[in-house]
Parts: sequence; C-alpha cells; structure tokens
Amino acid sequence: MQIKTASFVISNTDIKFCPEPDKPEYAFIGRSNVGKSSLINMLTNHKGLAKVSGKPGKTQTINHFIINDEWFLVDLPGYGYAKASKSKRNQFKGFINQYIKKRENLVSLFVLIDSRHTPQKIDLEFMEWLGENQIPFTIVFTKIDKLSSSELSKNMANYKKQMLQSWEAIPPVILTSATAKKGADEILNFIDHNNPLWKAYYEQHH
Ligand code: GTP
Ligand code: MG
Repeated sequence: MQIKTASFVISNTDIKFCPEPDKPEYAFIGRSNVGKSSLINMLTNHKGLAKVSGKPGKTQTINHFIINDEWFLVDLPGYGYAKASKSKRNQFKGFINQYIKKRENLVSLFVLIDSRHTPQKIDLEFMEWLGENQIPFTIVFTKIDKLSSSELSKNMANYKKQMLQSWEAIPPVILTSATAKKGADEILNFIDHNNPLWKAYYEQHH
C-alpha cells in the first residue's frame, strides 16, 4: 500500500466522540515509550504526524488519523506508565479498555513490545486480557536497530517460549524499527489485506 494522504482527525478520551465507525480502523498500543508514535510517523512517512517524545507518557488521548481517505489509524496512550499517578493510570486504562472493547470498526490492534527486553508481566497480562475479550492483535517488536541479530533472535525465542505457556499458538509477529525504517511493508500489507474483508462485512450489515 502506498500512503498518499495522512491527516489528523480528532483527539479524545471517550469513544462517544470518536469518528463515525464507517471505515476500517487499526490501533497502536503498548507500554509508554515503546515507540508507538514514532512507528506511526515512519509508516505514514510523515515526521510530525504523531507526537514523539523521549519522556514516557507523551500521548494521553485516543488520536485518530485518516489514511488515504480509506482507513483510520489510531495512536493510543501507553499503558503502565510508572510515573503517572494511580488515578491517572486508572483513568487511561478505563478509556483505553472501553475503546478496545467497544469500538466496532476496530479490525485489529498492533501491540508494540520493545525488542530489547525480556518478556514483561504487564505486556503478557495485557495480551491475555485481549485473548479473553477476543480482540485480534498482531505483535510488533520495536527498536530492533538497537540489537544485534543474535540478541534479537535470542529475545524472540525467549518471547515465543514464554507465550506458549499460556497460548496455543502465537499471534502474527512483525519486527520493526522506526529509526532504520524497517517493518512498514509488513504492517501495511496486513492492513491492505484486511481492509476489503472489513468493507465486504460492513456493506452486508449496513
Ligand atoms: P508514549 O506516547 O509516551 O506512550 O510513547 P510512544 O510509545 O509513543 O513512544 P515514542 O514514539 O514517543 O518514542 C519514545 C522514544 O523512543 C523516543 O525517544 C523515540 O525517538 C525512541 N524510538 C522510537 N522508535 C525507535 C526506534 O525504532 N529505534 C530507536 N533507536 N529509537 C526509537
Ligand atoms: Mg506516543
């Protein structure tokens, strides 16, 4: 898929105010600072589309972008931001979980995980929650430019081993780097494949 146009639509903290759910939607989620906003800018080839920061906790709202006038891309706040107050964390969790469970045009989530780390409880638990709620997702490992290929293979093997303890099969995995511009085609191909399927379903039901 070629990205011809990408523009910001709206930010909010309540699914009531999200755009009309008449186009397929894909959302990026993961811990604070994992690289969600950077990945979105890399994918769309728009440097300043999503706000990026070295400090965790930058994105604090549900942000909709419209791509090629055809599908929505959504940048979400990070989960598990340790420095935010407990009430703020719960507030984020509330509207993020609501969005994930209720957004009817959400085709799939991309769950971003920092490729440098060993499996973290918070990510594993979040994916289990998605499984319990039957939310489709793809795992996107980020910042692979920061690892050697042997470290990367070791970490990937470790992650798969850990996930197979609670999952029968592992969801699709994509390796990415916003800095080295890697993994965009895989993500865009996934979206390209799913958009017509969503549209066929939507037309049947509307
Ligand atoms: P929140 O909005 O705070 O939840 O963070 P985020 O997940 O949107 O992360 P963001 O894109 O703001 O990036 C966080 C930091 O990681 C920034 O300093 C980025 O420059 C850096 N970063 C993001 N992606 C990559 C990558 O692929 N490689 C490297 N080396 N650094 C990256
Ligand atoms: Mg962000």
